[in-house]
Order: sequence, then C-alpha cells, then structure tokens
Amino acid sequence: MYKTLKEITDAADKLNMTVGAFNMHNLEMLPSMIRGAQEVGLPIVIQTSVATAQYIGYDVIVAVCKQLANNDLVDVALHLDHARDFDAIRAAIAAGYSSVMFDGSNLPFKENIAKTKAVVDYAHARGVSVEGELGTIGGTEEGISVSEDDKEYTRPNDAVRFLAETGVDALAVGIGTNHGQFKSKTNVKIPLLKEIHSLVDVPLVIHGGTGVKEEDYPELINNGIRKFNVGTELLVGWTAVAKETFGATEVNKSLRYNIIPCNDKVKEIVKHKLSLFMNSDSPLK
Ligand code: 13P
Repeated sequence: MYKTLKEITDAADKLNMTVGAFNMHNLEMLPSMIRGAQEVGLPIVIQTSVATAQYIGYDVIVAVCKQLANNDLVDVALHLDHARDFDAIRAAIAAGYSSVMFDGSNLPFKENIAKTKAVVDYAHARGVSVEGELGTIGGTEEGISVSEDDKEYTRPNDAVRFLAETGVDALAVGIGTNHGQFKSKTNVKIPLLKEIHSLVDVPLVIHGGTGVKEEDYPELINNGIRKFNVGTELLVGWTAVAKETFGATEVNKSLRYNIIPCNDKVKEIVKHKLSLFMNSDSPLK
C-alpha cells in the first residue's frame, strides 16, 4: 500500500528496525527498488531529490510508486529529499508525495524552526509527513570524506527544542555522516546519537548511508534510527554495470540488454541493505 513516512516509521519502531530510504536516480531503477522490498517482505521509502523530481515529473513518480505499491503488495512511502524551498514542497504535495523533507540546516536555528514549522503546518493539513534537519551532514570529494571542519554536529538540547517547536515526524541528525561517500567509511558518533536519543522521542534519520559501516547498523538501530538513507551506492552500482553493458553491446541491440543488469544490481543492493535493517531482536528476523 501507498503510505506516509509516519505510518512506515511507526511500524518500524514497534519492530525495532529501521526503514530503508533509497534515492532513485532515474525511472528505470524504480520498479527494481520496490520489487527488492517486496521480495524481502519489508516496506520501503523511495526518495527523490528536487532535481530528479523535476527531471522525471513529480506526478509520474507518484503514479508509478502508487501502481507498484498496489500491484506488488508492498508498503511504499514517497519522500522528497532535502527540499529547501516551498515551491518544491508544494509541487510534491500537490502531485501526491506522502512525505517531504524541509532542509533548513543551513539557516540560523530560529529561522530553521520557523520555516520547518510552516512546512509542518502545510503538510500535516494535507496528510503528508515531514522530516526536518538539525546539524549538517558532511560532504565528499570523489567519494572520499572531506575535512571534519565543515560539519556541525546536532546539539542534543537544540534537538529537544526543535522537535517541541516544529512537530516534525522525523529528524535528520548530524552525527558524522557524509553524503556521497563511497570510497571510504565514516566514524559515526554513536555516543552523540545515544545522547540525542535519550532526550527525544521521534524517529531519527541517517543521511549519507552509503558511507556508514555495516557493522555499525545494529547500534544505530538500537539508538533510535528509524529511517536510513542510501543513495550513492545505488547510483555507483547502476553506473558501473551500465559502463560494462553499454560498452559490450552493439549500438542496435535492445536497450533491455544494457539496462536490465543495471536494475538488477540496484535490486541486489536494496535487498542486501534491507536485510541488515532488521535488528537481531526484531520479530521479523
Ligand atoms: P548517500 O548518497 O551518501 O548514500 O546519502 C543518501 C542521502 O542521505 C540522501 O539524502
């Protein structure tokens, strides 16, 4: 079924697991992502950047997600990732996205609160979930983490105030992860996550999941991570296979021969990650 992020994270919380939230980079890979979730019997969050939504069309992505959720009997939420302006949020909600992120992490604290609250009021009135962000997620160069200096870690007391004043359904935390990190792995600040988790009662979100060590997953899940974003790993996997297949086939060979193996790679990654997102004490394990 097509669901909101809140419905999916509420269910995950009862099972002490995290929901996998995967960035789609083109329409081709979308059915494989949802079928991967269906094959392991778990819900999935499909997320798009604003740029990907504009490139494909918000309404086209909504239609495909809803159709696949119904056909394949899998719980799917469709989430707009890192939106920084209201126009994109309005467009996504009008098209039928079931969840949006307002990323005010680059704004002064009070402005982040005020703008996030405005998005929450607008989205909740339309039955849509909202993720906010506090602290910053680091960046990478060519897939390797850049300096620690550009990161601002989430301050636990700020998180308490942010949640009380905004009413977001999920909170992305800055605990040492980096977007786009695929050539190295990061050292996540687990003690900081523990402190935040001890003070707040809202699903916490990992961004930059590609760069997180798989052995850290259980501790992250046990400390309140309920949405785990993975994007770059799918992108790198799809592209690496595409380089091989497009290079090896004739120009007049059906595109299926080039693209199905890329989509299969994406499905394999989604299934692998989802299988790690259940903790050993989860009733589903
Ligand atoms: P990666 O692309 O680093 O896996 O991060 C995904 C993400 O956090 C999207 O917001």
